[in-house]
Amino acid sequence: MDDGADVVSTLHKSRRELLPNIIGSTEETTTGLVRLRAMARDGALAFPVMAVNDALTKHLFDNRYGTGQSTMDGIVRATNYLIAGKKIVVVGYGWCSRGIAMRAKGLGGNVIVTEINPLKALEAVMDGFRVMPMLQAAREGDIFVSATGNKHVIDEHHMEVMKDGVLLANSGHFDIEVNKVALRALSVAEPQRVRPFVDQYTLKDGRKLNLLGEGRLINLAAAEGHPASVMDMSFAGQAMAAKYLLDNKGKLANQVYTIPEEVDQEIARIKLASMGIGIDTLTDEQYTYLNSWEEGT
Ligand SMILES: NC(=O)c1ccc[n+]([C@@H]2O[C@H](COP(=O)([O-])OP(=O)(O)OC[C@H]3O[C@@H](n4cnc5c(N)ncnc54)[C@H](O)[C@@H]3O)[C@@H](O)[C@H]2O)c1
Repeated sequence: MDDGADVVSTLHKSRRELLPNIIGSTEETTTGLVRLRAMARDGALAFPVMAVNDALTKHLFDNRYGTGQSTMDGIVRATNYLIAGKKIVVVGYGWCSRGIAMRAKGLGGNVIVTEINPLKALEAVMDGFRVMPMLQAAREGDIFVSATGNKHVIDEHHMEVMKDGVLLANSGHFDIEVNKVALRALSVAEPQRVRPFVDQYTLKDGRKLNLLGEGRLINLAAAEGHPASVMDMSFAGQAMAAKYLLDNKGKLANQVYTIPEEVDQEIARIKLASMGIGIDTLTDEQYTYLNSWEEGT
Protein backbone atom coordinates (compact mmCIF):
# COMPACT_ATOMS: atom_id res chain seq x y z
CA MET A 1 0.00 0.00 0.00
CA ASP A 2 1.65 3.15 -1.24
CA ASP A 3 1.14 6.91 -1.07
CA GLY A 4 2.89 8.96 -3.73
CA ALA A 5 4.47 5.85 -5.34
CA ASP A 6 7.47 6.17 -3.01
CA VAL A 7 7.64 2.46 -2.14
CA VAL A 8 7.04 1.35 -5.73
CA SER A 9 9.68 3.68 -7.10
CA THR A 10 12.25 2.58 -4.44
CA LEU A 11 11.53 -1.07 -5.29
CA HIS A 12 12.00 -0.43 -9.01
CA LYS A 13 15.13 1.70 -8.58
CA SER A 14 17.15 0.13 -5.78
CA ARG A 15 15.48 -3.08 -4.52
CA ARG A 16 14.77 -4.88 -7.78
CA GLU A 17 15.58 -8.28 -6.21
CA LEU A 18 12.25 -8.00 -4.34
CA LEU A 19 10.14 -7.40 -7.46
CA PRO A 20 9.41 -11.07 -8.39
CA ASN A 21 7.69 -11.68 -5.03
CA ILE A 22 5.25 -8.79 -5.32
CA ILE A 23 1.66 -9.54 -6.33
CA GLY A 24 0.74 -5.91 -6.84
CA SER A 25 0.39 -2.55 -5.13
CA THR A 26 -2.38 -0.12 -4.25
CA GLU A 27 -1.88 3.64 -4.70
CA GLU A 28 -3.51 6.25 -2.49
CA THR A 29 -2.90 9.58 -4.18
CA THR A 30 -3.12 11.59 -7.41
CA THR A 31 0.60 12.32 -7.64
CA GLY A 32 1.51 8.62 -7.19
CA LEU A 33 -0.84 7.67 -10.03
CA VAL A 34 0.73 10.22 -12.39
CA ARG A 35 4.08 8.50 -11.83
CA LEU A 36 2.72 4.93 -11.99
CA ARG A 37 0.85 5.61 -15.25
CA ALA A 38 4.09 7.02 -16.72
CA MET A 39 5.89 3.80 -15.65
CA ALA A 40 3.14 1.64 -17.19
CA ARG A 41 3.32 3.65 -20.46
CA ASP A 42 7.09 3.08 -20.62
CA GLY A 43 6.69 -0.66 -19.90
CA ALA A 44 8.68 -0.14 -16.68
CA LEU A 45 6.06 -1.33 -14.17
CA ALA A 46 6.91 -4.78 -12.78
CA PHE A 47 3.49 -5.60 -11.21
CA PRO A 48 -0.16 -4.50 -11.43
CA VAL A 49 -1.33 -1.45 -9.48
CA MET A 50 -4.81 -0.63 -8.20
CA ALA A 51 -5.64 3.11 -8.47
CA VAL A 52 -7.34 3.61 -5.11
CA ASN A 53 -7.27 7.40 -5.60
CA ASP A 54 -9.52 7.04 -8.66
CA ALA A 55 -12.29 5.36 -6.66
CA LEU A 56 -15.16 7.81 -6.27
CA THR A 57 -15.33 6.99 -2.56
CA LYS A 58 -11.74 8.26 -2.34
CA HIS A 59 -11.24 11.44 -4.34
CA LEU A 60 -14.78 12.83 -4.05
CA PHE A 61 -14.49 12.69 -0.25
CA ASP A 62 -10.90 12.44 1.04
CA ASN A 63 -9.40 14.84 -1.54
CA ARG A 64 -12.31 17.30 -1.48
CA TYR A 65 -13.71 17.35 2.06
CA GLY A 66 -10.63 15.98 3.86
CA THR A 67 -8.03 18.19 2.15
CA GLY A 68 -10.42 21.14 2.02
CA GLN A 69 -10.99 21.18 5.77
CA SER A 70 -7.54 20.11 6.97
CA THR A 71 -5.70 22.56 4.69
CA MET A 72 -7.62 25.52 6.07
CA ASP A 73 -7.10 24.03 9.56
CA GLY A 74 -3.32 23.90 8.94
CA ILE A 75 -3.17 27.51 7.72
CA VAL A 76 -5.20 28.77 10.67
CA ARG A 77 -3.24 26.74 13.24
CA ALA A 78 0.08 27.94 11.80
CA THR A 79 -0.85 31.62 11.66
CA ASN A 80 -4.02 32.29 13.69
CA TYR A 81 -5.06 34.48 10.73
CA LEU A 82 -8.64 35.62 10.37
CA ILE A 83 -9.73 34.24 7.00
CA ALA A 84 -12.84 36.42 6.73
CA GLY A 85 -12.27 39.28 4.33
CA LYS A 86 -8.91 37.99 3.05
CA LYS A 87 -8.25 37.38 -0.64
CA ILE A 88 -7.35 33.72 -0.94
CA VAL A 89 -5.80 32.50 -4.17
CA VAL A 90 -6.39 28.78 -4.67
CA VAL A 91 -4.07 27.40 -7.33
CA GLY A 92 -5.90 24.63 -9.18
CA TYR A 93 -9.53 23.53 -9.18
CA GLY A 94 -9.06 19.78 -8.94
CA TRP A 95 -10.52 17.59 -6.19
CA CYS A 96 -8.32 18.94 -3.39
CA SER A 97 -8.24 22.54 -4.50
CA ARG A 98 -12.01 22.79 -5.00
CA GLY A 99 -12.41 21.54 -1.43
CA ILE A 100 -9.99 24.22 -0.25
CA ALA A 101 -11.84 26.90 -2.26
CA MET A 102 -15.18 25.76 -0.80
CA ARG A 103 -13.95 25.85 2.80
CA ALA A 104 -12.05 29.14 2.38
CA LYS A 105 -15.25 30.70 1.04
CA GLY A 106 -17.18 29.26 3.99
CA LEU A 107 -14.78 31.03 6.36
CA GLY A 108 -15.56 34.34 4.68
CA GLY A 109 -12.59 34.44 2.34
CA ASN A 110 -12.76 36.20 -0.99
CA VAL A 111 -11.58 33.31 -3.16
CA ILE A 112 -9.75 33.61 -6.49
CA VAL A 113 -9.07 30.41 -8.47
CA THR A 114 -6.31 29.89 -11.05
CA GLU A 115 -6.29 26.95 -13.49
CA ILE A 116 -4.71 25.68 -16.70
CA ASN A 117 -7.66 23.43 -17.62
CA PRO A 118 -10.52 25.38 -19.27
CA LEU A 119 -13.21 22.96 -18.04
CA LYS A 120 -12.10 23.20 -14.41
CA ALA A 121 -11.77 26.97 -14.76
CA LEU A 122 -15.31 27.18 -16.13
CA GLU A 123 -16.62 25.09 -13.23
CA ALA A 124 -14.89 27.44 -10.80
CA VAL A 125 -16.50 30.44 -12.52
CA MET A 126 -19.96 28.85 -12.34
CA ASP A 127 -19.38 27.85 -8.72
CA GLY A 128 -19.13 31.59 -8.13
CA PHE A 129 -15.36 32.09 -7.85
CA ARG A 130 -13.25 34.73 -9.60
CA VAL A 131 -10.89 33.08 -12.06
CA MET A 132 -7.84 34.78 -13.54
CA PRO A 133 -4.22 34.05 -14.58
CA MET A 134 -1.81 33.47 -11.70
CA LEU A 135 0.24 36.58 -12.50
CA GLN A 136 -2.86 38.74 -12.02
CA ALA A 137 -3.96 36.84 -8.90
CA ALA A 138 -0.43 37.19 -7.49
CA ARG A 139 -0.92 40.99 -7.27
CA GLU A 140 -4.20 40.64 -5.36
CA GLY A 141 -3.87 37.71 -2.98
CA ASP A 142 -3.29 37.79 0.78
CA ILE A 143 -3.06 34.00 1.14
CA PHE A 144 -1.95 31.58 -1.59
CA VAL A 145 -2.68 27.84 -1.44
CA SER A 146 -1.66 25.34 -4.11
CA ALA A 147 -2.84 21.75 -4.58
CA THR A 148 -2.06 20.84 -8.18
CA GLY A 149 0.47 17.98 -8.12
CA ASN A 150 2.54 20.20 -10.44
CA LYS A 151 5.81 22.09 -9.84
CA HIS A 152 6.51 25.82 -9.47
CA VAL A 153 2.87 26.84 -9.79
CA ILE A 154 3.82 29.71 -7.47
CA ASP A 155 6.99 30.90 -9.18
CA GLU A 156 9.53 33.69 -9.10
CA HIS A 157 7.66 36.10 -11.42
CA HIS A 158 4.58 35.70 -9.21
CA MET A 159 6.57 36.41 -6.02
CA GLU A 160 8.01 39.51 -7.64
CA VAL A 161 4.57 41.18 -7.76
CA MET A 162 3.06 39.90 -4.49
CA LYS A 163 1.99 42.23 -1.68
CA ASP A 164 4.02 42.61 1.49
CA GLY A 165 3.14 40.06 4.20
CA VAL A 166 1.39 37.40 2.10
CA LEU A 167 1.16 33.75 3.17
CA LEU A 168 2.30 30.98 0.82
CA ALA A 169 1.00 27.46 1.51
CA ASN A 170 0.87 24.19 -0.35
CA SER A 171 -1.28 21.08 0.05
CA GLY A 172 -0.08 19.13 -3.00
CA HIS A 173 2.04 16.01 -2.49
CA PHE A 174 5.56 17.42 -2.86
CA ASP A 175 7.24 20.62 -1.64
CA ILE A 176 7.89 21.89 -5.15
CA GLU A 177 4.61 23.68 -5.89
CA VAL A 178 6.00 26.87 -4.36
CA ASN A 179 9.40 27.55 -5.96
CA LYS A 180 11.41 27.70 -2.72
CA VAL A 181 14.75 28.02 -4.52
CA ALA A 182 13.52 31.15 -6.33
CA LEU A 183 12.06 32.50 -3.08
CA ARG A 184 15.44 32.12 -1.35
CA ALA A 185 17.23 33.70 -4.32
CA LEU A 186 14.92 36.74 -4.17
CA SER A 187 15.66 37.14 -0.43
CA VAL A 188 18.42 39.04 1.31
CA ALA A 189 19.17 36.27 3.82
CA GLU A 190 18.03 32.93 5.20
CA PRO A 191 14.36 33.08 6.27
CA GLN A 192 13.44 33.83 9.86
CA ARG A 193 11.17 31.40 11.67
CA VAL A 194 8.70 33.89 13.12
CA ARG A 195 6.33 31.20 14.47
CA PRO A 196 6.39 27.43 14.29
CA PHE A 197 5.59 26.54 10.64
CA VAL A 198 6.03 30.16 9.42
CA ASP A 199 9.30 31.09 7.66
CA GLN A 200 9.53 34.76 6.77
CA TYR A 201 11.60 35.64 3.69
CA THR A 202 12.66 39.29 3.41
CA LEU A 203 13.06 40.30 -0.22
CA LYS A 204 15.61 42.76 -1.56
CA ASP A 205 12.93 45.47 -1.88
CA GLY A 206 11.91 44.99 1.78
CA ARG A 207 8.69 43.01 1.24
CA LYS A 208 8.22 39.97 3.48
CA LEU A 209 6.70 36.73 2.15
CA ASN A 210 5.74 34.01 4.64
CA LEU A 211 6.16 30.38 3.61
CA LEU A 212 4.13 27.94 5.70
CA GLY A 213 5.36 24.46 6.65
CA GLU A 214 8.45 24.78 4.40
CA GLY A 215 6.12 24.43 1.42
CA ARG A 216 5.21 20.87 2.43
CA LEU A 217 1.61 19.66 2.76
CA ILE A 218 0.35 22.20 5.23
CA ASN A 219 -2.50 20.00 6.49
CA LEU A 220 0.06 17.39 7.58
CA ALA A 221 2.78 19.83 8.69
CA ALA A 222 0.74 22.16 10.88
CA ALA A 223 -2.51 20.26 11.47
CA GLU A 224 -3.44 16.60 11.85
CA GLY A 225 -4.24 15.60 8.28
CA HIS A 226 -7.69 14.34 7.44
CA PRO A 227 -10.14 13.24 10.11
CA ALA A 228 -10.52 9.47 10.48
CA SER A 229 -14.15 9.74 9.44
CA VAL A 230 -13.14 10.51 5.85
CA MET A 231 -9.97 8.39 5.71
CA ASP A 232 -12.08 5.33 6.60
CA MET A 233 -13.45 5.33 3.05
CA SER A 234 -9.98 5.66 1.49
CA PHE A 235 -8.65 2.81 3.61
CA ALA A 236 -11.68 0.67 2.84
CA GLY A 237 -10.71 1.23 -0.81
CA GLN A 238 -7.12 0.19 -0.01
CA ALA A 239 -8.28 -3.00 1.72
CA MET A 240 -10.72 -3.91 -1.06
CA ALA A 241 -8.07 -3.18 -3.70
CA ALA A 242 -5.56 -5.44 -1.91
CA LYS A 243 -8.19 -8.22 -1.81
CA TYR A 244 -8.90 -7.70 -5.53
CA LEU A 245 -5.17 -8.11 -6.29
CA LEU A 246 -5.05 -11.33 -4.26
CA ASP A 247 -8.26 -12.73 -5.78
CA ASN A 248 -6.90 -12.01 -9.27
CA LYS A 249 -3.29 -13.03 -8.60
CA GLY A 250 -1.55 -13.99 -11.86
CA LYS A 251 -4.45 -12.75 -14.02
CA LEU A 252 -3.60 -9.04 -14.19
CA ALA A 253 -1.12 -7.31 -16.53
CA ASN A 254 1.51 -4.87 -15.26
CA GLN A 255 -0.85 -1.92 -15.65
CA VAL A 256 -2.76 0.56 -13.51
CA TYR A 257 -6.32 -0.66 -12.82
CA THR A 258 -9.31 1.30 -11.59
CA ILE A 259 -11.37 0.05 -8.64
CA PRO A 260 -14.50 -1.80 -9.87
CA GLU A 261 -17.71 0.25 -9.56
CA GLU A 262 -19.35 -2.37 -7.29
CA VAL A 263 -16.55 -1.83 -4.75
CA ASP A 264 -17.24 1.92 -4.71
CA GLN A 265 -20.96 1.28 -4.25
CA GLU A 266 -20.30 -1.17 -1.42
CA ILE A 267 -18.00 1.28 0.44
CA ALA A 268 -20.58 4.08 0.09
CA ARG A 269 -23.35 1.74 1.30
CA ILE A 270 -21.37 0.71 4.41
CA LYS A 271 -20.41 4.35 5.12
CA LEU A 272 -24.04 5.48 4.94
CA ALA A 273 -25.09 2.60 7.21
CA SER A 274 -22.38 3.60 9.73
CA MET A 275 -23.89 7.11 9.74
CA GLY A 276 -27.36 5.69 10.37
CA ILE A 277 -28.60 6.98 7.01
CA GLY A 278 -30.90 4.89 4.85
CA ILE A 279 -31.69 5.46 1.18
CA ASP A 280 -34.33 4.15 -1.22
CA THR A 281 -34.05 1.20 -3.56
CA LEU A 282 -35.55 0.89 -7.03
CA THR A 283 -38.99 -0.69 -7.22
CA ASP A 284 -39.32 -3.55 -9.75
CA GLU A 285 -41.34 -1.18 -11.93
CA GLN A 286 -38.60 1.48 -11.83
CA TYR A 287 -35.86 -1.08 -12.49
CA THR A 288 -37.71 -2.34 -15.56
CA TYR A 289 -38.33 1.22 -16.75
CA LEU A 290 -34.67 2.26 -16.42
CA ASN A 291 -33.48 -0.86 -18.22
CA SER A 292 -35.95 -0.68 -21.08
CA TRP A 293 -35.69 1.13 -24.40
CA GLU A 294 -39.33 0.57 -25.30
CA GLU A 295 -41.11 2.24 -22.35
CA GLY A 296 -41.39 6.02 -22.18
CA THR A 297 -40.19 6.81 -25.71
N1 LIG B 1 -2.82 17.40 1.34
C1 LIG B 1 -3.33 16.19 1.29
O1 LIG B 1 -3.60 15.55 2.33
C2 LIG B 1 -3.63 15.59 -0.03
C3 LIG B 1 -4.69 14.65 -0.16
C4 LIG B 1 -4.97 14.13 -1.41
C5 LIG B 1 -4.19 14.51 -2.52
N2 LIG B 1 -3.14 15.38 -2.34
C6 LIG B 1 -2.28 15.83 -3.45
O2 LIG B 1 -2.82 17.07 -3.94
C7 LIG B 1 -2.46 17.24 -5.31
C8 LIG B 1 -3.73 17.50 -6.14
O3 LIG B 1 -4.57 16.35 -6.11
P1 LIG B 1 -6.02 16.37 -6.79
O4 LIG B 1 -6.62 15.04 -6.50
O5 LIG B 1 -6.75 17.60 -6.45
O6 LIG B 1 -5.59 16.42 -8.35
P2 LIG B 1 -6.45 16.86 -9.59
O7 LIG B 1 -5.77 16.27 -10.79
O8 LIG B 1 -7.90 16.60 -9.36
O9 LIG B 1 -6.30 18.46 -9.60
C9 LIG B 1 -5.13 19.13 -9.92
C10 LIG B 1 -5.57 20.40 -10.66
O10 LIG B 1 -4.46 21.28 -10.76
C11 LIG B 1 -4.53 21.91 -12.03
N3 LIG B 1 -3.22 22.46 -12.37
C12 LIG B 1 -2.10 21.82 -12.80
N4 LIG B 1 -1.12 22.71 -13.04
C13 LIG B 1 -1.60 23.94 -12.72
C14 LIG B 1 -1.07 25.25 -12.75
N5 LIG B 1 0.18 25.49 -13.17
N6 LIG B 1 -1.86 26.27 -12.36
C15 LIG B 1 -3.14 26.06 -11.96
N7 LIG B 1 -3.71 24.83 -11.92
C16 LIG B 1 -2.95 23.78 -12.30
C17 LIG B 1 -5.01 20.80 -12.95
O11 LIG B 1 -5.55 21.33 -14.16
C18 LIG B 1 -6.05 20.11 -12.09
O12 LIG B 1 -7.36 20.66 -12.26
C19 LIG B 1 -1.70 15.97 -5.69
O13 LIG B 1 -0.32 16.18 -5.53
C20 LIG B 1 -2.21 14.95 -4.67
O14 LIG B 1 -1.33 13.87 -4.53
C21 LIG B 1 -2.88 15.94 -1.13
